[in-house]
Amino acid sequence: MALDALLQGLSLSGVLTAVAISSLFLVFVRRRYGSSISDVPGPFIGSFSVLWLLWSILRGQLGQATIEAHRKYGKLVRIAYNEVSISDPDGIEQVLKSKMDKGDWYKITSLPDSRFINQMSETNARRHIEKQKNIASGYTLSNIIKSEPYIDNLLSLFRSRLDELAAAKQPVKFEQWFNYLAFDIVGEVTFSRQFGFLVQGRDIGNAIANQGFLTLYLSVVGYFQWVHNLLLANPLIEYFNLQPAMHVFDTCVAAIDARSKNDKVRKDMIEQWMGTRKKHPESMDQKEIFAAAVATIGAGADTISAVLQALFYYLLRSPKTFDLLREEIDNAQLSSIPSYEETQKLELLQACIKETYRFHTPVSLNLSRISPPGGVIVCGRHFEPGVLLSINPWAIHRLTSIFGADADSFNPLRWLGSSDSIRQMDRNMVAFGAGYNQCPGRNLAHLEVSKAAALMVRDYDIKQVNPGQEWKFMSHFAAIPHDWPCWVTPRKRS
Ligand code: HEM
Repeated sequence: MALDALLQGLSLSGVLTAVAISSLFLVFVRRRYGSSISDVPGPFIGSFSVLWLLWSILRGQLGQATIEAHRKYGKLVRIAYNEVSISDPDGIEQVLKSKMDKGDWYKITSLPDSRFINQMSETNARRHIEKQKNIASGYTLSNIIKSEPYIDNLLSLFRSRLDELAAAKQPVKFEQWFNYLAFDIVGEVTFSRQFGFLVQGRDIGNAIANQGFLTLYLSVVGYFQWVHNLLLANPLIEYFNLQPAMHVFDTCVAAIDARSKNDKVRKDMIEQWMGTRKKHPESMDQKEIFAAAVATIGAGADTISAVLQALFYYLLRSPKTFDLLREEIDNAQLSSIPSYEETQKLELLQACIKETYRFHTPVSLNLSRISPPGGVIVCGRHFEPGVLLSINPWAIHRLTSIFGADADSFNPLRWLGSSDSIRQMDRNMVAFGAGYNQCPGRNLAHLEVSKAAALMVRDYDIKQVNPGQEWKFMSHFAAIPHDWPCWVTPRKRS
C-alpha cells in the first residue's frame, strides 16, 4: 500500500531521474570496487571517475598534483577509474619505451579536425611508427643545421627588438618575445617562411593568446572526444574561419601552396617530406605533409618559450650560478650570434638548460599508453588489457631517488661532471618523452634554446620589474609561464 502511494505520487520524470541516479551509482560502485585496478591506491574521487584529473587540469595544477599524489600513495596511483599513473624508472622502460598504443586523449590533437591525423594524434603504435618514418628526415640535426643561418638572422632581429625596447624604457614580456622568436624560427625551418611576429612585434592573429585557451581546451576535452566533434572539430567552425589557431593553419596552407609553385626552395622540412612523398607516393599523401607541418608549428613555439622563460626566471633566483654562467660565456668569446657548435662546448650553460628541462618541464601532460591485449607487467604488477598507464614528466623529474634529496630545488650544478648518478639522471629525463613517440622536434628545440640563452646571458642584464615577484602559469598539457615583466639592459658588445 505504502509503495503504491509512493509510486502514484511520483511523476514519470521523477522515476526516470531516480533510475538514472541509481544506474550512475551502480556504475561508480562497479568502477570503484569491481575493476582490475581497484587495489591501486589513489584519490577516492579518481577511483570511479575522471574528476580528479579534470579538477587538477582546470586548476592548472596537473604536474604539481601528480607529484603530490605519488608522494602520498607511492609509485602507482589510480588517478582515474581506468588510469594508473606510474612514477618510477620502470615506467619509462616498460611503458614509454614499449610499443603499446597511445591513449585516446591524443586523438584530439588532429588539428584542425579528425581528417588531419598527424604523428601526435595517431594512437596506433604501428601506424604511428610508419608515419614517423616518413617525416623523420625533416627533423634530423643535420637537416636542422642547414637552416642555422636563417635562425641566426631571426636571433639578430630578436636582439634588435630587445635593444629597441630597452632604449624606449619599456619592460619586456618574455612570454611574448620568446614565443615570437620561436614561432618565426619554426616557420623558417619548416617551410622557409617566418610568420612575421618579430618584424611586427605583435601577436599576429592572436595566435599566442589563443594557444593558452587551446591547450586548456585540448587537455580537458580530450577526455570527451564527442564534445570536441560538436565544438572545434565541427566542420562549420572551420568553414566560418572560427578556429582559434586559424592564422597558423592559413600560414601553413599558403606556405605549402607557394612551395608547389617554386622550384628554387631550400632543403627545409617540407622539402624533405616532399622528397619522401615523391619516392613513396603510396605511403604518404599531401594531407599528411600538411598535418605534419601543422603539428610541428603547433608544438614548436610555446614549449621553447617556456624553457627560455624558466631558465631566466630561475637564474635570477640563483645569482651565484648566473654569475658563473656569465663568466663561462664571456670567456668563450662566442660569435656575434653564438653558433650551435660553440654552445655545446659550454658545460655550465648545458647544465643550466638540462636543469630547466627537468625543473620546469614544458609538457606537463600525462603521457598515456593502453595496456595491450593479453595485458602487461609494469613495476612487477600485471595490468589487464585496456587499462591506461601514464607517465607524468613532472612527477618523474621530482623523484628524490633519482635526482637527489634536493630534487625540489633548481640546481644546475647537479649535472656537472660525469658520474654514475648523472648517467642515471640522464636516463630518467623525459622532458621530450621517450620511445616511439618521443618529441621529434628535440634537436631544433635544443639548438634554439642553446643559442638564444647564450646570446641573452652575454648581451643583456636582466632584472624583474618587480624583483622577486612570482610568475604565473597553468600546468595541464603544457606549463607556459606569464606575468613577470623584466627590464633588459644591453651590455657592452665587442
Ligand atoms: C623544449 C621544447 C620541447 C619540449 C619539452 C617538447 C616535448 C614534447 C613531448 C613531451 C612530446 C610528447 C611525447 C609523448 O606524447 O609521448 C612532444 C611531441 C611532439 N613535439 Fe615536442 N617538445 C619541444 C619542442 C618541439 C619543437 C621545437 C617541435 C617542432 C620542431 C616539436 C614537435 C613535436 C611534435 C610534432 C610532437 C608529436 C610527436 C609524436 O607524437 O610523434 N616539439 N614534444
